[in-house]
Amino acid sequence: MPSFPLEPFRIKMIEPVRILTRAEREARLKETGYSVFNLRAEDIYIDLLTDSGTNAMSDYQWAGLLHGDESYAGSRNYYNLGEVVEKIFGFKHWVPTHQGRSAEHILFGVMVKPGDLIPNNTHFGTTKGNLRGYGGETIDLAVDAAYDLYGDEPFKGNMDIEKLERFITEAKAAGKHIPLGMTTITNNSSNGFAVSLANIRATAEVYRRHDIPFFIDACRYAENAYLIKQYEPECAGMSILEIANALFGCADGMLMSGKKDALVNMGGLLCMNDDELAKQVRKAMFYSEGFYTYGGLAGRDLEANARGLLEGIDESYLAYRIAQTRYLAERIRERCLPCAGAVVWPPSGHAVFLNAGAMLPHLPGDQRPGAALLAAMYLAGGIRAGNAIYPRAAAAANDEAPLHLVRLAIPRRVYTQTHFDFVAEVLGEIVAQGEAVPGIRLAPGSPDAGAFDARFEPVS
Ligand SMILES: Cc1ncc(COP(=O)(O)O)c(C=O)c1O
Repeated sequence: MPSFPLEPFRIKMIEPVRILTRAEREARLKETGYSVFNLRAEDIYIDLLTDSGTNAMSDYQWAGLLHGDESYAGSRNYYNLGEVVEKIFGFKHWVPTHQGRSAEHILFGVMVKPGDLIPNNTHFGTTKGNLRGYGGETIDLAVDAAYDLYGDEPFKGNMDIEKLERFITEAKAAGKHIPLGMTTITNNSSNGFAVSLANIRATAEVYRRHDIPFFIDACRYAENAYLIKQYEPECAGMSILEIANALFGCADGMLMSGKKDALVNMGGLLCMNDDELAKQVRKAMFYSEGFYTYGGLAGRDLEANARGLLEGIDESYLAYRIAQTRYLAERIRERCLPCAGAVVWPPSGHAVFLNAGAMLPHLPGDQRPGAALLAAMYLAGGIRAGNAIYPRAAAAANDEAPLHLVRLAIPRRVYTQTHFDFVAEVLGEIVAQGEAVPGIRLAPGSPDAGAFDARFEPVS
């Protein structure tokens, strides 16, 4: 076998990209206040900001767009998608939504009341925001290994079953209500680490015993299923569909951003078994997403989702996808030697996470090594990446300075091995520059660092 991932497709249509000159890149970065999020996409050569909605669709998906039935209610694409949803996820009820966070908004609006507690392995940012918006309190209960950045264990995204049991028992004793319990696969806010089937079964058993509905945040369920197949010996002989059926068979419902493993640019799903909950969801979504047979999507989008979900569980696609991410992680590790701690391990399905603090050790925390690395990547190679969210519990577990992580999220079926070799080469150059890479600080008069319009400047 070759030592690099073989693409299970060939290229039929291309989108030109260009790399600006160094002087142009410097000017663009300055104009945006050193915030790569605010760059114009056309000024970027390789965009690794997110894997969400940035996927390339197949010719079969594009052909599906022409089969869009744009009737207001009951389009044929709704039924096509329904068949696929039934086959993969198997819940009694489902509705489409325009993306993952709208599924969250609708479900939590129906289920969550002020003061409620909602556990998860690690809540994603929008999940947290939506739950808190309804007065809920979010609790992260991932295993301790989730906070070890370099160990080899394949399932560092797991829920800590003992912590979960203890948390529920104590919450109940304190008279608290837990309207639903969750787990997120893969665990994006914890370096995209995978979750094992055994762990999902154990999580489901705890929730069931305590009579708590169990919902899976399933954006990257197919990548997670492939990692289960690779690393969980009892699942080695199962197909991805069988693993998916086993995963969702443990749960009472799921929500999902289709912008990940449905291989589309827009879409989402919300599924559940409970009849009464389904009724309330359909009613609640009417005023935001629209009627439950289209959920904020055009008929053609529903069709692309139906076809993309099936392509997303194709084993040759997933083998390539997972190998591609690992390939990038391994090349960066090689290129960034002697910096031992550059790459968080193991690489996830959708992204490579970098420890910017370890790569730029001359920068103290207040000179924002993460932002400094993002700026350096754009300046050196026209590459955009994003800040990674490091869970609060993790920062507390590492009593030294909080970590500064950067996420290289990989759009599906978009970039080639040459692009990845280039990314690794650029990162190697940045590490080799050492102390010449400047820190970044908030510019005088800027809104605070978390604001979308925050402006920064290099520390001279
Ligand atoms: C784990 C997880 N949940 C939910 C969402 C929200 O999905 P969307 O961006 O489609 O609203 C995301 C998006 O990145 C995610 O990674």
